[in-house]
Amino acid sequence: VKVGVLISGRGSNLKALIEAARDPAYPAEIAHVISNRPDAPGLDYAEDHGIATEVIDHTRFAGRPGFEAALTDSLTSAGVELVCLAGFMRVLTAEFVDQWANRVLNIHPSLLPAFPGTDTHRQALAAGVTITGCTVHLVSEAVDGGPIVGQAAVPVHPGDTPDTLGARVRAAEHRLYPHCLAQMAAGKVRVIGHGVEIADRTV
Ligand code: GRF
Repeated sequence: VKVGVLISGRGSNLKALIEAARDPAYPAEIAHVISNRPDAPGLDYAEDHGIATEVIDHTRFAGRPGFEAALTDSLTSAGVELVCLAGFMRVLTAEFVDQWANRVLNIHPSLLPAFPGTDTHRQALAAGVTITGCTVHLVSEAVDGGPIVGQAAVPVHPGDTPDTLGARVRAAEHRLYPHCLAQMAAGKVRVIGHGVEIADRTV
């Protein structure tokens, strides 16, 4: 299964997906990487690993529909069947989500539905939770609101800052995302209403 990854920045999750997919037994191939920002560091890592990359700069488009049409063109011509958002900082329209229904995954650095949106670790610390984590979910029209494919819990330590907590959560993201993508690519994830059923959790 060919996968396209959309990024905007650092790309540490992209890196984790690329590393996982190097295993010949992994059921997905990272075939194409798109960044909406020309300076995203993640692009270099993908190029160094022989993966096709493309910059589709949203500021060059008058509105979201044009930007998203360019995304779809690029993904389709690369033969992409599944899309992973990995630190992609653009909200997608209902039209794009419909077009790619149940074929777009996102990773969010909290245990959704807690702390959607931005500044997640600051929100978690302000709320005083002692456990947070990360969530891989299918993308629906509701931002950070689609069916949950997988979650990992991470403890909050006394004295944590958004940075120290973020680093701990990110390490968990790098294990969770490849795992969830493998389940999706292997056809183990069935969407039922607002949730999913995973046929075989051993993947
Ligand atoms: C991750 O924390 C992810 O959960 C969120 O954005 C961050 C991206 O980090 N959606 P990276 O670019 O993968 O390093």
